[in-house]
Amino acid sequence: MEIDFKNVPKHYASRTHEKMTEVLMDPNGVGPAIHYYMIRGGVDQKNTTVWEPGTISGEYIKTYGHYHIGDLSENYTIAYGEGVALLQKLAENSDGEMTTDVVAEFKAIPVTTGDKIFMPAKFGHLLANTGSTYFVTIDDSPVDFEDRDPASFPGHADYSLVKEMQGFAYYVVEHNGKAALKRNPRYKNILKEDLGGLEVII
Ligand SMILES: [Fe+2]
Repeated sequence: MEIDFKNVPKHYASRTHEKMTEVLMDPNGVGPAIHYYMIRGGVDQKNTTVWEPGTISGEYIKTYGHYHIGDLSENYTIAYGEGVALLQKLAENSDGEMTTDVVAEFKAIPVTTGDKIFMPAKFGHLLANTGSTYFVTIDDSPVDFEDRDPASFPGHADYSLVKEMQGFAYYVVEHNGKAALKRNPRYKNILKEDLGGLEVII
């Protein structure tokens, strides 16, 4: 087996609380210094993400969330833990550009160890850790180690639409000790949704 070790120093990144305040339900909430850890090996070695457990003002610790640039889908395997995956596709205006505040289709999918999820092209995606342990996933998205910041912000991903809306159309929150959803009021409309049986709280 021949493995090229040259990019190993670029494999690891972590997402800080400071950066996550851009997309939290409560940007002033108290959270851990680091929300999740990424080890990026791309299509060949796969990417591993590890979430801290816990909530910030009731919202479960989650990944920032992004859309893929171009026609790129992604496969996730849940290696360990309990979580909820959120997928959303934005509506397009008459010029074929994505609107920021109307969601054409939204899906919430509760997941557990061993589950697999397919993230279709055009669907923004994030995962929240709803369990009391680390939550660990493996995915197969590509990585280009010539990117400026390949492990933390890969070039195939767009984070700006999520930042602009302070997160996705729902937040995953703890309610009576279990996962529920709370609407992000910045989104005007959701045209189609499948909430995976999760309760919506006001
Ligand atoms: Fe992705």
